[in-house]
Amino acid sequence: MTRRVEDNLFPAHRADEVMRRAIGLTEGTMPHPNPRVGAIVLTPDGEVVAERAHIRAGSAHAEAAALADAGSAAKGSTVVVTLEPCAHHGKTPPCTTALIDAGVARVIVGTLDPDSRVAGNGIALLEDAGIEVVTGVEEDAVRANDLAYYHHRTTGRPFVTLKTALTLDGQAAAADHTSRWVTGPEAREDGHRLRAESDAVIVGAGTVISDNPRLDVRIDGYEGPQPRPVIVAGRRPIPADAALLSRNPLVFTTGSDQPGLGGVEQVAAPGPDGVDLTAAIEYLGKNGVVAVLIEGGPTIGGAALRAGLVDRIVFHYGSKLGMGTGLPAVTGVFQTITDAQTVTIEDVAMIGSDIRVEAKIERET
Ligand SMILES: NC(=O)c1ccc[n+]([C@@H]2O[C@H](COP(=O)([O-])OP(=O)(O)OC[C@H]3O[C@@H](n4cnc5c(N)ncnc54)[C@H](OP(=O)(O)O)[C@@H]3O)[C@@H](O)[C@H]2O)c1
Repeated sequence: MTRRVEDNLFPAHRADEVMRRAIGLTEGTMPHPNPRVGAIVLTPDGEVVAERAHIRAGSAHAEAAALADAGSAAKGSTVVVTLEPCAHHGKTPPCTTALIDAGVARVIVGTLDPDSRVAGNGIALLEDAGIEVVTGVEEDAVRANDLAYYHHRTTGRPFVTLKTALTLDGQAAAADHTSRWVTGPEAREDGHRLRAESDAVIVGAGTVISDNPRLDVRIDGYEGPQPRPVIVAGRRPIPADAALLSRNPLVFTTGSDQPGLGGVEQVAAPGPDGVDLTAAIEYLGKNGVVAVLIEGGPTIGGAALRAGLVDRIVFHYGSKLGMGTGLPAVTGVFQTITDAQTVTIEDVAMIGSDIRVEAKIERET
């Protein structure tokens, strides 16, 4: 029988402390479309003998890697793992098999895996093999550590963050579309961190034409995967010399292929107002994109908000005033107060000389 954690599972460590340590092992990992997982092997007395994280898709799973490091010490051990061990063959064999074969006595799990290929099967296999299983230890912290994964596996859609840099009075660009450097280096580095947490970064044609961005992660020492650029194209042609074209972009079109983009993957997603953004986001979700960052201009940001596709907003407010004639943060109609969208502000912080505001949008799933 699965049971809830008791206060003193080990003499030396409480299980929740060990689980937090397992979460910490995942820092800097980016294994999407797989989840971030950390695993620790402990002796019956609570002494840590091995600890590992799942670093990248295709690399060893955390449990298998930790068990391999533990060697014969894994027999009779307790394994603390942030996520229910997988029960299916993917690029690597099931972790349940590795745990059973290693002779583990007990497995302490942070949260069940909502992936339909696991979804309780991992726990059942362990229990059928006579392993004691404890679930639900630091579950909220485990989920918060990889919100996008749990969102993706539950809804089929990627977790979508809309990030925009604004003047203090909320304008996204000057009327002549010169908007760069509204914010300082710290805010821009935060933008690069958001890219590093994302599998894809979306912009509209307007941003490609105005700014010619690269949308890659440029942080000193960063060695993780680069997010794939995604262009939402409309009536205007995407310039053949756009910097993004050298970064293997995916281009959503309103119908026929954009001209002059030979060799670039193009997907038709026609909608009434250009590209059907809901179809585009669902396409990304079906193709293993777990976390999306929208870094486009106000048109794409507003359209994504109106379509109910945005889960989180990050606005950086710089120390400049736009004085009213520039572009809004997001386009839309604000004729009367009921047109406004309600968000939940979760965090406000100074970031260098700028302000960072993070808000979430609750949606029916
Ligand atoms: N402050 C910031 O953080 C930030 C970030 C990015 C950009 N910007 C600024 O924003 C300005 C560009 O703004 P923008 O609004 O034109 O850029 P955008 O939102 O990136 O691009 C909008 C364009 O995307 C195409 N599109 C196709 N389907 C669409 C759909 N369903 N919904 C919305 N757009 C669709 C349309 O192209 P067609 O017109 O060709 O049909 C549309 O005009 C530039 O000045 C840039 O510097 C600021």
